[in-house]
Amino acid sequence: SLAKVLYGTGSGHMMSVTTAKGDGLMKKLDITIVGGGSTYTPALLKTICDYQDQLPIRSLTLYDIDEERQAKVGRFAEILFKEKYPEVEEIHYTTDEEKAFANKDFVLMQIRSGGLKMRVDDEQIPLKHGAVGQETCGPGGFAYGMRTLQQFIDIVKGIRHFSPDAWIINYSNPAAIVAEATKREFPDDKRLINICDMPIAIMDAFSSVLDKDRSQLSPRYFGLNHFGWFTALYDETGKDRLPEIHSFLKDKEILPSEEAMLDESWQDTFKQLAQMTRDFDGYIPNTYLQYYLYPAQMVEKSNPTYTRANEVINGREKNVFSMLDDVNERQTVEGSSLVSGVHGDYIIDLMASIINNESEMFLVMVENKGAIENLPSDAMVEVPCLVNANGVEPLRVGPIPTFYKGLLENQLAYEKLTVDAYYNNSYDDALKALVLNRTVVDTPKAKAILNDLIEANKDHWPKLD
Ligand code: G6P
Ligand code: MN
Repeated sequence: SLAKVLYGTGSGHMMSVTTAKGDGLMKKLDITIVGGGSTYTPALLKTICDYQDQLPIRSLTLYDIDEERQAKVGRFAEILFKEKYPEVEEIHYTTDEEKAFANKDFVLMQIRSGGLKMRVDDEQIPLKHGAVGQETCGPGGFAYGMRTLQQFIDIVKGIRHFSPDAWIINYSNPAAIVAEATKREFPDDKRLINICDMPIAIMDAFSSVLDKDRSQLSPRYFGLNHFGWFTALYDETGKDRLPEIHSFLKDKEILPSEEAMLDESWQDTFKQLAQMTRDFDGYIPNTYLQYYLYPAQMVEKSNPTYTRANEVINGREKNVFSMLDDVNERQTVEGSSLVSGVHGDYIIDLMASIINNESEMFLVMVENKGAIENLPSDAMVEVPCLVNANGVEPLRVGPIPTFYKGLLENQLAYEKLTVDAYYNNSYDDALKALVLNRTVVDTPKAKAILNDLIEANKDHWPKLD
């Protein structure tokens, strides 16, 4: 319960937490990572160690359905924490729900339904039909969503059964679809928070242009997940620095600074950000808008038999697991290639803002309820929110211009129909969703893609009639 998470003096500054911890006032946290075997988990664990003064942890539990894969991360975690954060009293890795979910303060969720293996299909099947092949956008994201929802809902129900008051920080994809289902399935759950790190990764790239640290910049942003725009970027003096980014992008490119984004495909994505900013006057888009605004170009650039999923399998996944094998073999993290990343940093910042009641601003997916004045009240939008011990409080965006409103309403309808297709077991809803998606549009093409996706997902999707 919340009472278990006390915040020392409540002054809201990170330093006070250290004091609180020293005084023994602050309850040490019991946390679980769902998707313990994820390629992102080791970096997240490193961040937890790096932030130990701000996040006193009593126990860490990894939970996954892939026991063997998770065991490698689990053994590594034991070594890492013994060396870097020995105050953590218990480290567990388990496939048992009760062990994973009982008596937790925080559960961090990063599931990938179907694993990277199904991501290959999600990306390659649409490309076969000449449509964008992407993890979360277009038919790939649709397929991933149809696989994810039941698992996501079951896991959240499991967590709530054992820990009714735990904070659940969810960054499982496709986040827009997951957020829409969250609203329908858990409408009153104030402690289930859906977030995404992409805007932050983009902000890091902006920060380096401005020679600032991300923490010195405060973004204004609106949209849906992987479908939004920056409208302002305030520095410590309150000056909006987004116009500088705009003029920078007129003749230069911004590249990602993130270790996880060094691959050429991510570099290309950030190059396209410059192109989008030049083509469209106004706000600066999330990189994911490239798939909706340049679908033909994206298809042309893709290799239909070797997509991002293949790159990740042969790159990040191999590297992370060989790092784990190496550490587990040598029984030390010293000299290993372990690095942290924006992904974990963002989650830990958010947790700190909750337990220390800091009311820091984060971009979170929330029910619109008037935040974006001229979008439906029940849309799950991604907007700046204050995050504190009482949860998430969205800021007001106001009305948005026609171009953005049009794009967003279309995408929103796609997202809702996708979730309808899941709940109604409806082929008709699924087809309508895909036709609405800007990366598909054409009905015969949508049917052909859908039929192939149904076949590829027959063991994973609800049956569509
Ligand atoms: C960003 C997005 C995530 C997405 C990831 C894909 O972090 O916010 O939603 O899953 O990129 O990255 P990858 O390197 O796996 O293609
Ligand atoms: Mn994301």
